[in-house]
Amino acid sequence: MSEVKSGLEGVVVARTKLSDVIGDVGRLIYSGYDIHDLAPHASIEEVAYMLWHGCLPTRPQLDEFVRDLLNRRGLPFQVMELIRSTPQQAHPMAVLRTAVSGLALGDAEADDISHDSNLRKAADLTAKLPTIVAAIDRNRKGLEPLAPRNDLDHAANFLYMLHGREPDELEARAMNLYLVLLADHGFNASTFSARVTASTLADLYSAIASAIGTLKGPAHGGATQAAMEQLFAVGDVEKVEGWFDDARAQGRRLMGMGHREYKAADPRARHLRQMAAELAKQTDPKWFKIAEKLEQLARQDPYFVERNLYANVDFYSAPMLYALGIDPDLYAAVFAMSRIVGWTAHLLEQYADNRLIRPRAEYTGPMDLHWTPLDQRE
Ligand code: CMC
Repeated sequence: MSEVKSGLEGVVVARTKLSDVIGDVGRLIYSGYDIHDLAPHASIEEVAYMLWHGCLPTRPQLDEFVRDLLNRRGLPFQVMELIRSTPQQAHPMAVLRTAVSGLALGDAEADDISHDSNLRKAADLTAKLPTIVAAIDRNRKGLEPLAPRNDLDHAANFLYMLHGREPDELEARAMNLYLVLLADHGFNASTFSARVTASTLADLYSAIASAIGTLKGPAHGGATQAAMEQLFAVGDVEKVEGWFDDARAQGRRLMGMGHREYKAADPRARHLRQMAAELAKQTDPKWFKIAEKLEQLARQDPYFVERNLYANVDFYSAPMLYALGIDPDLYAAVFAMSRIVGWTAHLLEQYADNRLIRPRAEYTGPMDLHWTPLDQRE
């Protein structure tokens, strides 16, 4: 009988050149570059180019790449109509998953899994996801979705399409930082599910639909919304200690804390914390202050220290995205706008060197039962 690795913890199932999560020392590498080097310098467009092509673009390469993405931002009429037809109370991740399937239906090459076709789809999905997410939010609020603006970069254009006003320099920088930091993360659950789907030689859209479904859960991308709701539940800086003690006494998990891979500080949290602090100065600082105090209490508590539980990427993404005026139930969809870059890069890698991903399970059910005819069963 083989050892069962519950949750596939620690199991290495593939090789990748895309990103490395070095959990014991809290490092994250994209294509050889440390996230601390990328965070203050890189645009999401450069990161996308690098993950899909294996190296940073030159100026002419980046210019052409950006132009291509700009041209792909608009949505087919049918996909916009699909978004308009969804119930107002539908979760944005459910609508996003549906809209991606809608894009597949309108793509004559949907089932073509060649590298060139998939590269085109990677650019298409990356360019269109912000348009879809902004349209979902505006549509459910009874507002008219806005057409993308070609004079704004990927991050700034999203905030424009969401709010109907051009973001200021800090807001645009914050959005870009968020998109860069979350673009890829080794074999996280949604990337893994995308690769499992692709390993059956199903098409790229199907793999992305799998990934979106996987990202939705509160143990993964849904944690950012849960982390924000946690800040709402605390409500006030003065109430943090009492709330924390109650959570500990009741054995409740702190959302946005802990990580399967990081047993040291999540390197992305540092940048998000700093950006959330900067944005807090020009909005309501309350939510950042509550988060900061909550993290402080957790880091002083032996329970969190002994288990190496640190603030993860979701913890400070929550007050940062809130300061950007984004509704909490949109956070997982905004996460998908970033991770689409990594998902598609992993899919290119998977299709290029595919082997069906098909692990085993240890059977623990009964054996040697005898068939009982239906009318003799009790
Ligand atoms: N608050 C309190 N205790 C926790 C937490 C937490 N957030 N996370 C883990 N623990 C405890 C857990 O109870 C267990 O304790 P014990 O050993 O006494 O049973 C120990 O730490 C190990 O937990 P685990 O569930 O075995 O760890 P895991 O690797 O399976 O889970 C996790 C990782 C992220 C699901 C978990 O830390 C968690 O539920 N965190 C809250 C949700 C969250 O923030 N998710 C976002 C993950 S990072 C970004 C992403 O992937 O999208």
